[in-house]
Amino acid sequence: MNGSASSVDSVNARLGNPDAYLTDHVLDQFLLKDHVVVITGGGGGIGLALAFAVAEAGGLVAIIDAVPEPHEHYNLLLEIAPKSKFYQSDVTSYDRLKATFDEVIVNFGRIDGLVTAAGVAMDKPFLEKTPEGLQRTFSVNVFGTFYATQLAVRQMTTQQPRRPGASGAGSVVMIASVAAHQSSNHQFTSDYCSSKGAVVSLKNQLAVELAKDDIRVNCISPGYIATETLLRFAQARPEIAEVCMTEPPAHRMGNRGELKGAVVYLLSEASSYMSGSEMLITGALHVGRYWNGS
Ligand SMILES: NC(=O)c1ccc[n+]([C@@H]2O[C@H](COP(=O)([O-])OP(=O)(O)OC[C@H]3O[C@@H](n4cnc5c(N)ncnc54)[C@H](O)[C@@H]3O)[C@@H](O)[C@H]2O)c1
Repeated sequence: MNGSASSVDSVNARLGNPDAYLTDHVLDQFLLKDHVVVITGGGGGIGLALAFAVAEAGGLVAIIDAVPEPHEHYNLLLEIAPKSKFYQSDVTSYDRLKATFDEVIVNFGRIDGLVTAAGVAMDKPFLEKTPEGLQRTFSVNVFGTFYATQLAVRQMTTQQPRRPGASGAGSVVMIASVAAHQSSNHQFTSDYCSSKGAVVSLKNQLAVELAKDDIRVNCISPGYIATETLLRFAQARPEIAEVCMTEPPAHRMGNRGELKGAVVYLLSEASSYMSGSEMLITGALHVGRYWNGS
């Protein structure tokens, strides 16, 4: 055997069947059949919409949220994925969160995916921010993301991929924000923007550090998405609503349903070679502001 044939053999040995694209149907690659996915902040808002995405793709959802009861739509989620569970906990308290993850592992036996959607934002000018407020934003958005990821990854590293030939032991999807990259017009969110920058950096580092464990780490960075929280913000200061509806080149806010496809992609085999990436879903806001062409 000559040198080039043997190097092709060694490439193929690492890649598996080079002709798998002929038989691996693309829609099957997106299925999350019986995958156990933990979603922090899934009691409402974007997290709950992403829970529906996971359930509709065949997965089981463990929602962790600080609220005592999830939004009423959670009952509809149970109709799609009856084994899903809601856990009241707090991502800022390591001990409490660890006890919740222990419970999830007892209930489900494994964790295939994590989505960190728990997050808070305060609208207050820079000079009025307090140490307590800053602490709260970073506790939820950064420490909470860090703790949840560490607890999920600790479990993922002990388990085999769900099926032979599957690419990974687990997939982590952090919800960052376009605010990690650019200022938020008319919003006083210096603490929030910097906390989301930290989330993007954490994703970069972990994608490299955890690659040897077959764990992929990516993030979704939404632009303005119409959740109750953002709409409350906008009610308090109507100029925020105006900005959200007119500033993105798409000339509107996003609907949280428009994030569903992305999370299924990142959690599933469809993205098996993707790690360390960021999906910016912003109506093109991250590359420019609305221009009507004239
Ligand atoms: N809505 C947007 O326009 C937008 C844009 C970019 C990024 N995001 C991010 O998306 C994520 C979800 O945002 P949303 O708009 O759905 O907000 P939301 O307030 O509707 O949802 C956030 C959820 O996190 C939960 N949570 C807060 N603190 C927690 C804690 N300590 N422990 C556990 N759960 C806690 C809340 O109870 C809530 O259910 C956040 O990380 C947010 O920063 C939102």
